[in-house]
Amino acid sequence: KNILFLASEAVPFIKTGGLADVVGSLPREVDKNYFDARIMIPKYMCMKEDDRNNLQYVTHFYMDYMGQSRYVGVLKKEVDGVLYYFIDNEYYFAGNKPYGNWYWDLEKFCFFCYAALSALPLLNFHPDVIHCHDWQTGLVPVLLKDRFAGGEFFRSIRSVFTIHNLRFQGTWDKKTIQRFTELSDYYFTPDKLEFKKDANLLKGGLVYADAITTVSRTYAKEIQTAFYGEGLEGLLQARDHDLRGIVNGIDYNAWNPKRDPYLAYPYDKVSVHKEKGKNKRDLQESLGLAVDDETMLISMVTRLTDQKGLDLVERVFDELCQDRVQFVILGTGDEHYENLFRYFAWKYPDRVSAQIYYSEEISHKIYAGSDAFLMPSLFEPCGLSQLISLRYGTIPIVRETGGLCDTVEPFNEYEKKGTGFSFSNYNAHEMMACVRYAERIYYDDKKSWRGLVSRAMKADFSWKSSALQYQELYDWLVEWR
Ligand code: ADP
Ligand code: GLC
Repeated sequence: KNILFLASEAVPFIKTGGLADVVGSLPREVDKNYFDARIMIPKYMCMKEDDRNNLQYVTHFYMDYMGQSRYVGVLKKEVDGVLYYFIDNEYYFAGNKPYGNWYWDLEKFCFFCYAALSALPLLNFHPDVIHCHDWQTGLVPVLLKDRFAGGEFFRSIRSVFTIHNLRFQGTWDKKTIQRFTELSDYYFTPDKLEFKKDANLLKGGLVYADAITTVSRTYAKEIQTAFYGEGLEGLLQARDHDLRGIVNGIDYNAWNPKRDPYLAYPYDKVSVHKEKGKNKRDLQESLGLAVDDETMLISMVTRLTDQKGLDLVERVFDELCQDRVQFVILGTGDEHYENLFRYFAWKYPDRVSAQIYYSEEISHKIYAGSDAFLMPSLFEPCGLSQLISLRYGTIPIVRETGGLCDTVEPFNEYEKKGTGFSFSNYNAHEMMACVRYAERIYYDDKKSWRGLVSRAMKADFSWKSSALQYQELYDWLVEWR
């Protein structure tokens, strides 16, 4: 069966968050004997020059879109046995970021959806399923039932829409969305794309996809409630029957403490207790923190947005800094948080480090060199950072929401079980108490802490079982829908 992953980002070419990791890794993990899974993303000007210049030309054509004839180039490249297609148009995919300007992004990704479907018949690849990800590809399931419904080629294609983040929906007033989508009035009613008098591309995906998934079981339930549903809880309840939660995995080759080229002291389940400390010293030195094996080092690697619970951290940070801990954060995003953490790093120079940029390399060093990883998210569809932390024997401290609930087993000191620490209410002092509980175990019960580290590293969040669930879904779509 042929599967086409359609998305706005995919590793190793372009990444702003976990979406890229998932789109870039899942197609490698499905059974190659039964599935030919390929990926299609835009060719952004902001991709590395080396990558951009090493793509192979496939074809090009001109497509009428919004009253103009637009160039659509298709290029390709194979990485580790998976074929990536790139949609090329320098007018739409210019800029130093893949996206970020909401209004412009709407037109850009509507163009992408049209271009992607128009290109398919020229590729010698007939997908049985198009797997769409997030609002940027929400128009595709609609088009498959509308503009592209007629032809022989498209008739048998099924679509699945995966929600990675319900907060971003691609919303604007109806007239604008209608112009960008070129859909008739028929689609702009409350049971279709209309949303609170405006229109919404993600909703198009949710209404028209043959199946919907999201990236953890708990999030699949949460989004059917008003608190997490972002106004779409009613629709999601109505489609409950077609909605599954399949937890993300991570690429166990890319994230492997034993064979990590970025680490000075690679380690595995056995050597972790000896080698982790060396990585910690290495990290402390390079960050300018006091070099000290004994002090608990807590880290965050994250987009700096409200989703990630940073207001809780802000609220109790001074208090936290009275404890015997060090703290490092790697992230970019809201200016408020960027400056806040710069300020704390200035205020507590030997115990707080703020790395306000994006770096794959430093992220690996932080995952390996810290003792605990803080992730007090307000909502978290899945979360990959806590999975990476577990893999590196770094103990996650999380709020019980979404994928964090499904992947971090709370420590039970009586039964000697669990892989991390968790708290339930979105409350700064509840978080603080949870961090202090972790501190207590770290300092006063070394044996339990070692147990936590061992169990964390034994937990399996490779793609193995989740890829099987996706395969089952593809089979079901092709054979039964
Ligand atoms: P989200 O997709 O909501 O941002 P996830 O936990 O699913 O959250 O995925 C985040 C991914 O992005 C992880 O792989 C994390 O290591 C990475 N990441 C986030 N910020 C940075 C940064 N500043 N530098 C390097 N990697 C980062
Ligand atoms: C989104 C979510 C994150 C999830 C990622 C990949 O960015 O915020 O929780 O892990 O997508 O599915």
